[in-house]
Amino acid sequence: MKKDLQQREHWSTRLGFILAAAGSAVGLGNIWRFPYVTGTQGGAAFLLIYLIAIILIGYPVMVTEMTMGKVTQRNPVGAFKKLAEDTSWYLVGGLGVLTGFVILSFYSVVAGWSLHYMVESITGLAAGADYEALFGEHISSVGLPIFYHAIFMFMTAAVIAAGVVKGIQKAVKTLMPILFVLLVILIFRSVTLEGAAEGLSFYLAPDFGEVGIGTLNDAIGQAFFTLSLGMGAIITYGSYLSKDENIGDNAAWVVGLDTLIAIMAGFAIFPAVFALGLDPATGPGLTFVTLPAVFSEMPLGSFFGFVFFVMLSISALTSSISLLEVVVAWIVDEHNWARKKAAIFMGVVIFLTGIPPVLGYGPWDGFEFFGMDILDTYDFFADSIFLPLGGLLTAVFAGHVYTARKLRDKANEVEGKIFVGDWFDPLIKYVVPIAIAVIISVNLYTVFIG
Ligand code: PFF
Repeated sequence: MKKDLQQREHWSTRLGFILAAAGSAVGLGNIWRFPYVTGTQGGAAFLLIYLIAIILIGYPVMVTEMTMGKVTQRNPVGAFKKLAEDTSWYLVGGLGVLTGFVILSFYSVVAGWSLHYMVESITGLAAGADYEALFGEHISSVGLPIFYHAIFMFMTAAVIAAGVVKGIQKAVKTLMPILFVLLVILIFRSVTLEGAAEGLSFYLAPDFGEVGIGTLNDAIGQAFFTLSLGMGAIITYGSYLSKDENIGDNAAWVVGLDTLIAIMAGFAIFPAVFALGLDPATGPGLTFVTLPAVFSEMPLGSFFGFVFFVMLSISALTSSISLLEVVVAWIVDEHNWARKKAAIFMGVVIFLTGIPPVLGYGPWDGFEFFGMDILDTYDFFADSIFLPLGGLLTAVFAGHVYTARKLRDKANEVEGKIFVGDWFDPLIKYVVPIAIAVIISVNLYTVFIG
């Protein structure tokens, strides 16, 4: 039943893997979520706590997932099965597959908004328009959001159908450099606007007055989401690594690139927002309401708006392919489906699952789950519960069942610059699980009780 190891595709170059994993990591989480969370949580103060979370929690889990994939050469379900035969641990892999499915269904809807704004920028962003109302109008309509959601899912499935090397690797090798160049152009534009300095100081001078338990929670949650951890995406990508790759270095590259791009996104956004006298703390609307307003006011704004939304769409695509790959790898490895058939079938099913979140802003806007609309409900379960739970169980498994010692021996099997030393053990055994348990509790409390 299981595919022979010989047959499994492998990244053809190390750069291919790093760009694919960094592409998974760099996404709406970096360019949409990171800046708006930073904007509402004290700017640099949040940044500092976030960096600590990345180092103490993100990096060890990245090492863990990458190692699990490389050692087993399997999708998340198969990986747990192989490392803990005849136990129920494979269910953690199953939770990952389910999480990938759910995240992709609404991630693609938001990516569709980005495609819409990309097209709108070409026809021109009018100065002085009411961007709040325009955004509301777009998301509460039905046809266009579903159309763009379909286009985005189609692109995602097309890449996955083409395979690991000819699909994923080829796409990220073209798209990631473009993303980087576009981001540099935007930063240059943003920091050279008159009045940009105020934005820079907001971003770089910490205001600890806004920091509370919620900040800690957001920082850890963001670390997980942005690094694509807790749902087996990195296990899956790691499973296409060849045996002669070192883990410590590869994990550092991926974490480093993701963090760099999130920080760069802040430099592209805050100086411009301040230069035009707008509010950095508008929350989720920062990208789709505040930024179009910012672009509409600046010289050549339509051009820069277009560049921004192309970049945002690219970042979303390189992430969505990793989400679909988790689901497809599972059904290919465990149920022996052909890759193409799996990509098309799952692409369609996930597209359909994404329709209720679209309707939730229009005809179904009466729906409420503890005060959340449909998209927020999907998002709550996937990002605030399933992802951290997956991360928690993966850390407990690696630290206590498989054992931290054995895991890092495997990670260090091939020598690299970064040695995964014994500092790893207390982090994966205690720090990660405890920190995550706290955030899951806080999330449950806030929604159901607080
Ligand atoms: N890391 C992506 C982002 O920051 O947008 C989101 C994501 C992709 C989460 C893939 C999980 C995943 F498996």
